[in-house]
Amino acid sequence: MHPRTHPPNHANSPELRSPSELESGLVPEANLLQVRMVRGSLADAPQFPLPMGFAIRRYQQGDAETWVRIEQAADRYLTGHREIYERDFGRHETLLGARQLFLCDPGGEAIGTATAWFGAYGGQASGRVHWMAIVPEWQGKGLAKPLVTAVCNRLRDLGHTRAYLVTETVRVPAINLYLKSGFVPDIRSELDRAAWQDAQRRGLKIDV
Ligand SMILES: CC(C)(COP(=O)(O)OP(=O)(O)OC[C@H]1O[C@@H](n2cnc3c(N)ncnc32)[C@H](O)[C@@H]1OP(=O)(O)O)[C@@H](O)C(=O)NCCC(=O)NCCS
Repeated sequence: MHPRTHPPNHANSPELRSPSELESGLVPEANLLQVRMVRGSLADAPQFPLPMGFAIRRYQQGDAETWVRIEQAADRYLTGHREIYERDFGRHETLLGARQLFLCDPGGEAIGTATAWFGAYGGQASGRVHWMAIVPEWQGKGLAKPLVTAVCNRLRDLGHTRAYLVTETVRVPAINLYLKSGFVPDIRSELDRAAWQDAQRRGLKIDV
């Protein structure tokens, strides 16, 4: 556990528009600007250990409710997490036992989640870090880094060799977390560059 000394999250700054970059149905009302990050290899993902007493467990039947509770509590920018869960995971329940992770406090209560998912990226099948969140009471305590470690290890164990993720420029803590975990900005177009420049303006230390 450690005190937080980061610059403030400029969550109220004006947003740039880039509708073509948005994943359909994700954030229309919030008008968030999306960016992608990649990790070219999962072989050497940083191994952040979980603090004593905390645990990471896998999806069990009924955890849709757990996931919605955590995401609703954590996410300042999106609503409709029940629908999001149904859209992204509803058809895939048989896969979740292997892929959806929950971070538990020393009392066994689930306080965070992330999913070792998959997708097509750059024309190739790839692992994906999907829907990462920790409830506000437990944020800023160094618990997210071990959760990313667990997801990357899970992806690797499932046979993925690389991973990507999609996030939004307003999510400064998340982008910092992913940078610390060895993900790098994916810049393939001028639209990507503009989005990453927006992230830079929010205080993120990245080369664009
Ligand atoms: C993203 C999230 C999971 C991070 O959780 P957390 O418990 O704060 O993360 P940690 O304490 O493990 O910190 C990990 C890193 O995140 C970054 N970070 C955390 N809080 C930060 C803040 N307020 N400002 C800037 N960076 C921050 C730091 O780089 C930190 O590493 P460091 O302490 O070595 O500098 C959490 O903020 C969250 O749930 N946010 C809402 C949901 C969300 O945006 N999810 C991401 C979707 S892509």
